Amino acid sequence: VTGNLAPTPPMGWNTWNTFQTRIDEPLLKGMVDAYVSSGMRDAGYRYFVLDDGWMTMERDSNGNLVADPKKFPNGMKAFADYVHSKGLKFGIYNCAGNKTCAGYPGTRGHEYQDARLYASWGVDFLKYDWCNTDSLNAREAYITMSSALKETGRPILFSLCEWGNHQPWLWAKGVGEQYRTTGDITANFTADKHMGTWSALSVLTILDKQPAIRKYNGPNHWNDPDMLEVGNGMSYAEDKAHFSLWCMLAAPLAAGNDLRKMSAQTQAILTNKEVIDIDQDELGIAAYPVKLADSVQLWVKPLKNNQLALCFLNRSSSVQKINIKWSDLDITNAEAGSSIKFAENKYALRDLWLKKNVGTTKAAFKQDLPSHDVVMLKLTKL
Ligand code: GLA
Repeated sequence: VTGNLAPTPPMGWNTWNTFQTRIDEPLLKGMVDAYVSSGMRDAGYRYFVLDDGWMTMERDSNGNLVADPKKFPNGMKAFADYVHSKGLKFGIYNCAGNKTCAGYPGTRGHEYQDARLYASWGVDFLKYDWCNTDSLNAREAYITMSSALKETGRPILFSLCEWGNHQPWLWAKGVGEQYRTTGDITANFTADKHMGTWSALSVLTILDKQPAIRKYNGPNHWNDPDMLEVGNGMSYAEDKAHFSLWCMLAAPLAAGNDLRKMSAQTQAILTNKEVIDIDQDELGIAAYPVKLADSVQLWVKPLKNNQLALCFLNRSSSVQKINIKWSDLDITNAEAGSSIKFAENKYALRDLWLKKNVGTTKAAFKQDLPSHDVVMLKLTKL
């Protein structure tokens, strides 16, 4: 929340999707090492974020939060130093309410105190959740914490996690650098998971909420469609589609898999530089969808230098044939102020997963697209 902390979407890794509150220093040091040895750092990921579960159940006698000594026997400063020693940035989690979602002490009433503690540990990123907030006003609560972070004088990226109910895209620019737009993701491409009154959302459910708010996305104020589930149980095609689409959205990229034991395929997805470059394009424009057939969408993302990223998505459970004559394709989007006429403008095509040049828009584009798979292309004007 100070200056220009997120000119492009923040990239990192977060404990929650794989480990929930089962975290400790030996595990996490191994993860930091794997972050580097797996090539994640070199691919551009920077933040190493502890989600819920790092604290003791009570504050100390001075009202300070305490890193759980069983999980972090050397304290949080020592762990933060370890993260920094590997050229990474350190993130932590708390909640605007009285308790975090997992029941640990929340920050309500301790905003400035907690911010000072984080700064003293060398925290670079705060994810700030929304459980147990009763009648708290979301905008005010997030502004309070934002001010508390600024007051420390340390640049700390502020990640709002309010789940979209209070439309943070309308007010969070300048309050924090990114804001969750929905409830929690689950590692399923099409099916939400219902648990009592609570639902975890599929990749497509979250994706479909993004077009309506895409115009609020941009440098230092990113719509956050939640963390990545790549490597957490979906098929290779689904993981590839999920990652491609988040990059098309110019979304923050927070990997959430076990970096110590990822498959070669998972690693290849998460570290595909050409796809990451689409996410990190400096214009920061989120893609919009065009319907090509009942179950095939074309997502369109304008890039700097009049380049374009296109992502064909097969939402169905069967193979779909793409057969496009570019000059017939209308991907005009009035709301995006974008009108691209392939009849007049010719482009060279690069397939970002094949990592190959695949011709130009002078020829037709034909391809069989497997279920839940994508073709992702970068277009450069000829
Ligand atoms: C909420 C958030 C998740 C995670 C958990 C932790 O559900 O949306 O991303 O931080 O809390 O308890």
